[in-house]
Amino acid sequence: MNTYLSLENLSITFDTDNGPLDVLDDISLKIDKGEFISLIGHSGCGKSTVLNIVAGMLQATSGGVLLENREVDEPGPDRAVVFQNHSLLPWLTVYDNVRLAVDQVFRKTRSKQERHAWTLHNLELVHMGHAMDRRPDEISGGMKQRVGIARALAMEPKVLLMDEPFGALDSLTRTHMQDSLMEIQADLNNTVIMITHDVDEAVLLSDRIVMMSNGPSATVGEILNIELERPRNRLALADAPSYNHYRAEVLRFLHERHAQSDVPVKKSAEESAEEVLKPTLKIAAG
Ligand SMILES: Nc1ncnc2c1ncn2[C@@H]1O[C@H](COP(=O)(O)OP(=O)(O)OP(=O)(O)O)[C@@H](O)[C@H]1O
Ligand SMILES: [Mg+2]
Repeated sequence: MNTYLSLENLSITFDTDNGPLDVLDDISLKIDKGEFISLIGHSGCGKSTVLNIVAGMLQATSGGVLLENREVDEPGPDRAVVFQNHSLLPWLTVYDNVRLAVDQVFRKTRSKQERHAWTLHNLELVHMGHAMDRRPDEISGGMKQRVGIARALAMEPKVLLMDEPFGALDSLTRTHMQDSLMEIQADLNNTVIMITHDVDEAVLLSDRIVMMSNGPSATVGEILNIELERPRNRLALADAPSYNHYRAEVLRFLHERHAQSDVPVKKSAEESAEEVLKPTLKIAAG
């Protein structure tokens, strides 16, 4: 079988001042072209480390990553990354940060005029056209994050790797960006791996949610297939039993099966799920 993107038995051990730290242990995942995968798990379990290995910025201690059957061992424009901490070049304007990536990928295939228009299009998509002449230190954290997203999308990568891309955004902008991302993905059929702490975001956007166990030696705990029809509408789904079932499954995994050891877990799965669902249920009940 040809898998589009394959994570094969990834393990990584870091050398630290306190000796070796086994962060990931035997992570395997086969991802189809066009699939949207969310990675979810407690802080520090190793999600960013997984993404950095797929991006080619970190080498696994053992195992590896194959994209279209070719081993990934360095960064490349076929895998664009939206980093957890926005990473714009501080001496370039917002426009130039995106344009640089557009030029890198399309210099040979698109005219200067086309590259200019494409840069503007992607800035508009994240509502940053108005600030395109500012430098990163003149815009807010959420705005920087949006530029990072525009830059990644503008590269039309085979694989889009996003590390908590919407975490720093206000809820209105986040909603808008999630909807745009769903549209773009339906259009371009990007393969996406997104790290998120937001359970609703994971269920709304994903084909599969990969839930990681706690570290050290974190691995794939459970995988949840989200079989909700696309296009998905957040308002319609808020009342849908299937949506709320998936949501509760993720919460159950995070809060009970893999609760962090320093957080006491007293409630049953049903109780805790119900508690977290209360606001939704209330709204649903009118
Ligand atoms: N280069 C490194 N050297 C040593 N330890 C590292 C290195 N990179 C990450 N770690 C450790 O690996 C573990 C996993 O880190 P990682 O950043 O992947 O977690 P995460 O799941 O993304 O967490 P968060 O949700 O807080 O972003 C942490 O214990 C971290 O301290
Ligand atoms: Mg992280």
